[in-house]
Amino acid sequence: MNSNSNINAYIETHKDRFLNELFDILRIPSVSADPKYKNDVIKTADAIKEKLIAAGADKVEVCPTAGYPIVYGEKIIDPKLPTVLVYGHYDVQPADPLELWTSGPFEPVIKKTDLHPQGAIFARGACDDKGQMYMHVKAFELMMQTGTLACNVKFMIEGEEEVGSTNLAIFVKQNKERLRADVILISDTGIIANDTPSICVGLRGLSYVEVEVTGPNRDLHSGLYGGAVANPINILCEMIAKMKDDKNHITIPGFYDDVEVLSAEERAEMAKAPFSLDAYKKALDLSDIHGEEGFTTNERNSIRPTLDVNGIWGGYTGEGAKTVIASKAYAKISMRLVPHQNSDKITELFKNYFESIAPKSVKVKVTPHHGGEPVVTPSTSPAYKAASMAMETTYGKKPVPVRSGGSIPIVAMFKSELGLDSVLMGFGLDSDAIHSPNEHYGVFNYFKGIETIPYFYKYFADLKK
Ligand code: BES
Ligand code: MN
Ligand code: MN
Repeated sequence: MNSNSNINAYIETHKDRFLNELFDILRIPSVSADPKYKNDVIKTADAIKEKLIAAGADKVEVCPTAGYPIVYGEKIIDPKLPTVLVYGHYDVQPADPLELWTSGPFEPVIKKTDLHPQGAIFARGACDDKGQMYMHVKAFELMMQTGTLACNVKFMIEGEEEVGSTNLAIFVKQNKERLRADVILISDTGIIANDTPSICVGLRGLSYVEVEVTGPNRDLHSGLYGGAVANPINILCEMIAKMKDDKNHITIPGFYDDVEVLSAEERAEMAKAPFSLDAYKKALDLSDIHGEEGFTTNERNSIRPTLDVNGIWGGYTGEGAKTVIASKAYAKISMRLVPHQNSDKITELFKNYFESIAPKSVKVKVTPHHGGEPVVTPSTSPAYKAASMAMETTYGKKPVPVRSGGSIPIVAMFKSELGLDSVLMGFGLDSDAIHSPNEHYGVFNYFKGIETIPYFYKYFADLKK
């Protein structure tokens, strides 16, 4: 196998091209949530297809679905060798609010930041997930060009992750044979810090609902009617407030019934991950943190379920003051789930509770959106070990296993439908502002990923011998 110097020499020689190719992909606004970008999303799939072909993949295909296509490609060098299935997504979140970006979301530029002294690529999708997905394409090219590919590889890059992966779920069920592999490798998560590598070993699930509260049948003068009828915005706020008690426990009956309880040992192990509460507060400009009593910050955002309002609207929000009682109020509410909660069941519990606490003076409607199941991935498997050894080789430090608070709903499905575990070897930082204005991805992280991935293949092949 290539020595460290071979990998680094190849990266060094092709550095500028590796960046420029990513920039080209970042320039295409592949926002899956907004139909306005339909052609751009499809254009991105075609671009990925070309890149896979150029890197040396066979059977490269843009597979149509009822929604956006899935890009597939493979390189089978020897059926006796283990097969790595690489998953990633080429769609991105909407870029708005646009006015908060310091440069265009689809005009990638490198700028220095405190945490990225070598510069970071600023663009929507730079970290989530175009930059991280493309590391795999370039690492594959590197292994092909240096004759060091040690495993078979299959690529499956989708365009609907940010909108729930509904069509990928169907594709997976219909293509079990084609997707046969030994492990799934994903870079769509993060590390603790650039000098503290970690591997994600858990993702939360998701229940997502939209609620509508209706008061009077029309907007009313708040002087003529105020005080005598239910104001749906006030009522909605009261109902939301009722969903947590003074200890910040969620009050939905049955909500915690299935929640996995970690042992004191497991929690002590978790607490070993480096973390500074002061730095955390400082980075977010917070005087204090907030959350469920009895749990640490890292527990609150990973092993504990949550309920959050993502958006709330109704009434008059324009310039100046309008005296009005709105007819309707709305909110979008997400619940992050942990093992062994079930998304459909939690959505049902939410709906029943929300309806039960609604006063007679209003009508309420609960509409479920896409959801996903939580997942825990093994930290003792050969694939985990290969990832751990790969990161230890390139960072000079053994990565720590960490459960993340985010969701990648398809990962639980990979397990249930394909029987495959995933290795979540991501390279982003929490501060990279994914889904936010000024999303960025460290140049260091991009190249560190390209450097680390070939070691994963080498160690995985060795461990599976
Ligand atoms: N890559 C993220 C999830 C993520 C980020 C997990 C960082 C762990 C660490 C993914 O693209 C994402 O944003 N998922 C959505 C869920 C989806 C159904 C919209 C999420 O977590 O909100
Ligand atoms: Mn992602
Ligand atoms: Mn995302």
